[in-house]
Amino acid sequence: MHHEHEHFLPEPLPENPLQAVDEWLTFAKENAGRPNPDAMILATSGPSGMPSSRVVLCKELIRDPGYLVFFTNYLSKKGRDLAYNPKASAVFHWDRLRRQIRIEGQITKSPTAECDEYFATRAWPRQLSAWASHQSEPVASLDHMQKRVERAAKKLGLDLAALESSGLAPADIPRPEHWGGYRLWISSVELWAEGAGRIHDRGLWTRDLTVAGDNAFQTGPWQSTRLQP
Ligand SMILES: Cc1cc2nc3c(=O)[nH]c(=O)nc-3n(C[C@H](O)[C@H](O)[C@H](O)COP(=O)(O)O)c2cc1C
Repeated sequence: MHHEHEHFLPEPLPENPLQAVDEWLTFAKENAGRPNPDAMILATSGPSGMPSSRVVLCKELIRDPGYLVFFTNYLSKKGRDLAYNPKASAVFHWDRLRRQIRIEGQITKSPTAECDEYFATRAWPRQLSAWASHQSEPVASLDHMQKRVERAAKKLGLDLAALESSGLAPADIPRPEHWGGYRLWISSVELWAEGAGRIHDRGLWTRDLTVAGDNAFQTGPWQSTRLQP
């Protein structure tokens, strides 16, 4: 039955799952065979309790103390959900690799210096759209959206025509306050590896997160268990 043994999780499960998460993410970047191997589906919920999910890019995994980083608009639907309920779950799935990673945890905002630093590396159209777009708000038409981009460029004193002929390099555009990073502090990880005959291998790790100051958590020890498929 174990003819694809290399896909399975070690026996016994390692004490800390984040090295495996890191290895799976790194492996996927080379081998996923599709664009955006760092895409994860992020689920949030707000006052209604209705879960809401969408794709975002995982920009970083910090193994110690253990959080993922993604960037978005703080005033978007997900941003409003996270302000109300700073908890999220995320799932990565790589079809060709026959692997899935599920993550749950607590949310904090990234420090502003980190947001500024990352914003400064983004291609100018993305920097500009962070100013132009009230993400998740209605817009009358795509034409109106284009007008918003032009208006934002004007407000920022940018010469759109010059930028357009300059390529995609970042421009000297400041980060809008409503755009930045979130840290998803990991309290639960499930590694899922496809097996033959639906006998998949699943390892689940959980730990406690205790509030430690305004924007951080202290992490407890990991507990692990194998799950039936
Ligand atoms: C491959 C892919 C990557 C995406 N990456 C991001 C991202 O990193 N940040 C982001 O805000 N939206 C990203 N989006 C758009 C989101 O899926 C979503 O449409 C947007 O953030 C608004 O979500 P909300 O209204 O639920 O807040 C991405 C979409 C796709 C398909």
